[in-house]
Amino acid sequence: MNKIQFPKDFLWGTASSGPQSEGYKHKKNDSIWDYWYKKEPERFYNQVGPETTSNVYEQYAEDVSIMKELNLNSFRTSIQWSRLIKDFETGEVDQEAAQFYNRYIDEMIANGIEPMMNLFHFDMPYELEQKYGGFKSRHVVDLYVKFAEAAFELFGDRVKYWISFNEPVAYTKGAYWHNLIYPNEMSMQSYVQANYHILLAHSLIVSAYRKGNYSGEIGIVVDLLPPIPRSENPADVEAGRIADLFINLIFMDPCVRGEYDQDYLNILKKHDCMFHYHIEDLEAIKENTVDFIGINYYQPMRVKARDSMPNPFSPFTPEWYYEPYEMPNRRMNEYRGWEIYPKALYDIAMRVKNEYGNIKWYVSENGMGVQGEERFKNKDGFIEDDYRIDFIKEHLGWLAKAIDEGSNCFGYHLWTFVDNWSWTNAYKNRYGLVSLNLNNTERTIKKSGNWIKEAIKNNDFS
Ligand code: BG6
Repeated sequence: MNKIQFPKDFLWGTASSGPQSEGYKHKKNDSIWDYWYKKEPERFYNQVGPETTSNVYEQYAEDVSIMKELNLNSFRTSIQWSRLIKDFETGEVDQEAAQFYNRYIDEMIANGIEPMMNLFHFDMPYELEQKYGGFKSRHVVDLYVKFAEAAFELFGDRVKYWISFNEPVAYTKGAYWHNLIYPNEMSMQSYVQANYHILLAHSLIVSAYRKGNYSGEIGIVVDLLPPIPRSENPADVEAGRIADLFINLIFMDPCVRGEYDQDYLNILKKHDCMFHYHIEDLEAIKENTVDFIGINYYQPMRVKARDSMPNPFSPFTPEWYYEPYEMPNRRMNEYRGWEIYPKALYDIAMRVKNEYGNIKWYVSENGMGVQGEERFKNKDGFIEDDYRIDFIKEHLGWLAKAIDEGSNCFGYHLWTFVDNWSWTNAYKNRYGLVSLNLNNTERTIKKSGNWIKEAIKNNDFS
């Protein structure tokens, strides 16, 4: 393979989130995950819940020093709403939490790690879910703005990259469509309304950030799954288009272009599923487009036209128009069950370039989950994850090609740094450059960690 090189100021980072890494120390309020785990532990892999983490709350300095050792220069994590805010209605800050995030951010900066702070990684405060139905409620939008304003005020002098939401569609799909996230409600109307309120909340905090005259940038992280239709047959192509509208464009278009794709709105109206909005919201959405986009990419979305029509009396879902297509002989990550298709990263990059005005963007997550990774430990207790090195190299190869062709990508963030807890999958799939011993939270750099250290140092990823 030819030598792959990246721009000099490229951000080489990893990504994680507060609820998946911090642990419970000094955390005063529950998120939906904390509550749900207490209520239904059997829904979580091996019944391991969100209190079992790498204990970043106490071990953040150790992590930052390993990041530095590995030559990484950026890290994306999230500030937990349910940790930072003591009283959700007034927006009163918990001082202990503020001090923790101050220490954490300062440690990163002192060690040359650019902090990218996200404000929502699926972690709705339980109280707001229970009282108001989370983002189905417009009141919760106002409360989220208070939280974001508090975070900007506390950390905006040092944090230069802000992210309003991580993968909003993964969250709303899980909560209101696919029964994967509490409150496990199956309602398209709720899916559509919560997505709309998240978009509104996003636009309002972009506006608040700009009014505050901070010197950084603000964006959103989406999982822009490239829809790949089974064939060029018009029915399959149309299936791909509908999936694209409901999974990708629902955020990509209004966040970057300032408005929804009209076809999306037409389908909602046709099925009597339109969200409630105020006319002045549309102005806020139009005016507050993002400075950059973060894109999470793991696998493509292969779709086909439905083989049979759904029961016309069943409630509407976008899957009336398409269904997943399991292409024979796809290349699979046999350890996680997800498809491996690195070229999609190039397709995404070129789509951003050609269809979204070449807006500044970065890879906010990409990575390889491995179930039972312990089996790759050598006799010295060191994980030899050559499969992960190959995975990263292939994706970087396609990314470099896109950058070479003019795509405006400014960074690559691997999921994740230290193996972290992952929602209902807990520790089933390990993703880290650094492994975590769950008994004593000890960290050990994997082979991929040492590989990336050398690759970044030499700017050579071949
Ligand atoms: C991403 C999420 O989509 O997938 C992360 O942003 C999550 O929060 C990651 O941990 C991996 O998920 P899983 O289910 O393979 O552990």
